[in-house]
Amino acid sequence: MTTASIRVGIDDLAFATAHNVLDLKELADHDGIDVGKFYVGIGQTQMSVAAEDEDIVTMGAAAARQILQRHGTTGIRTVLFATESGVDQSKSAGVYAHGLLGMSAHCRVVELKQACYSATAGLQFALGIVARDPSERVLVIASDIARYALDSSGEPTQGAAAVAFLVTADPSLIEIESPTGLFTDDIHDFWRPNYRSAAVVDGKYSLAAYLQSLEGAWGEYRSRGGVSFGEIDRFCYHQPFTKMAKKAHDRLVAITESPLDAAGRAAQIEDSLTYNKQVGNSYTASIYLGLLSLLENAPDDLAGERIGFFSYGSGSVSEFFTGVVQPGYRSLLRTEHDRQVLDARRPIDYAQYRALHEHVEAVRGGDFETAAQTAGPFRFLGVRDDMRRYEAREAQ
Ligand code: HMG
Repeated sequence: MTTASIRVGIDDLAFATAHNVLDLKELADHDGIDVGKFYVGIGQTQMSVAAEDEDIVTMGAAAARQILQRHGTTGIRTVLFATESGVDQSKSAGVYAHGLLGMSAHCRVVELKQACYSATAGLQFALGIVARDPSERVLVIASDIARYALDSSGEPTQGAAAVAFLVTADPSLIEIESPTGLFTDDIHDFWRPNYRSAAVVDGKYSLAAYLQSLEGAWGEYRSRGGVSFGEIDRFCYHQPFTKMAKKAHDRLVAITESPLDAAGRAAQIEDSLTYNKQVGNSYTASIYLGLLSLLENAPDDLAGERIGFFSYGSGSVSEFFTGVVQPGYRSLLRTEHDRQVLDARRPIDYAQYRALHEHVEAVRGGDFETAAQTAGPFRFLGVRDDMRRYEAREAQ
């Protein structure tokens, strides 16, 4: 069951996150509540918090740089940048990243938007491009800073991260199968009007909408000839918070009337939750960060195992699809590096977090310079004459 007769899929996957980290205990103490609500109730321990001089472009470029350092740029004629925290209404964040990465001018670069779903749109569009011409490789970047209002119930589900993946023929990591199942519904569970820097959300409704979409996408997946639940070994869900993946998996088990017990259900998803628990919601990147977490934290060799993916973006658009882990994939992982990136984040306290949150709103709409706070390969310098300015710390 491959796309056309050519094997297509993800050849490499890398991630980056923000410079700072807030332990959710800081937030619970500020709110005067038991931290168990965050650590256990929603399944989140920490969240990455962007410094003044980083944004979706610097994180996206930092993730993509790892892919280009290993594979070069030959054959990459398309860059798809998925985000719902875009920095410009006209210019793609991908064009900034393309410039920072020193890529060839002979490239189409666009930004894709549909809440947390659009990286999966990017994957599917990329598969089509590669199936038409297997000599092409497509770079997909998904990068987001999840931002809710201070003192709102969404606040503990913020976070920040980027992933980049290379879509090719004869992929080394995951071969993506067909068919897929789709479900779109014009609703207001979570959205962000152009004049707002933080999302508007109907929290409880968004959970119900997510689960209803799962049911809709799974139903279409099966009606189009998709494999049964029992033929899928592991699952990767969009993770606004990790408890959501557990709720979704329980729902899928119920829909499919699988006899799997609680331990069996947990084993199918738990390795995909490890990184997201520490990073928070990374919107478009979240499901692929979950995939990276699964590949890097599963103690067993997963080669040959089939993964089921459920990608959800509020508003809403969702998709269920599967992929098969390729032999030898472990040699491509950057496990030590990725763990080190998480451990190297700078811990901040509640007051520092609040100041960074307020800074975003304070500088909106005018020129400003950022303080140099980060040490990553790319910096956001600020805005001058309405133009965003970036710097690469070393030649790419
Ligand atoms: P809330 O009202 O603050 O929390 O909102 P709650 O009262 O529902 O409690 C949460 C859980 O903690 C519950 O567990 C409590 O029982 C438990 P559950 O019943 O759900 O299993 N709890 C405790 N557990 C242990 N010890 C304790 C304790 N106290 C309570 N002491 C909500 C939670 C998620 C709604 C809120 O944070 C929110 O609005 N988040 C943002 C929206 C969101 O993430 N929605 C998810 C689905 S939509 C989606 O995924 C798309 C999205 O990523 C955006 C996009 O697509 O662009 C968001």
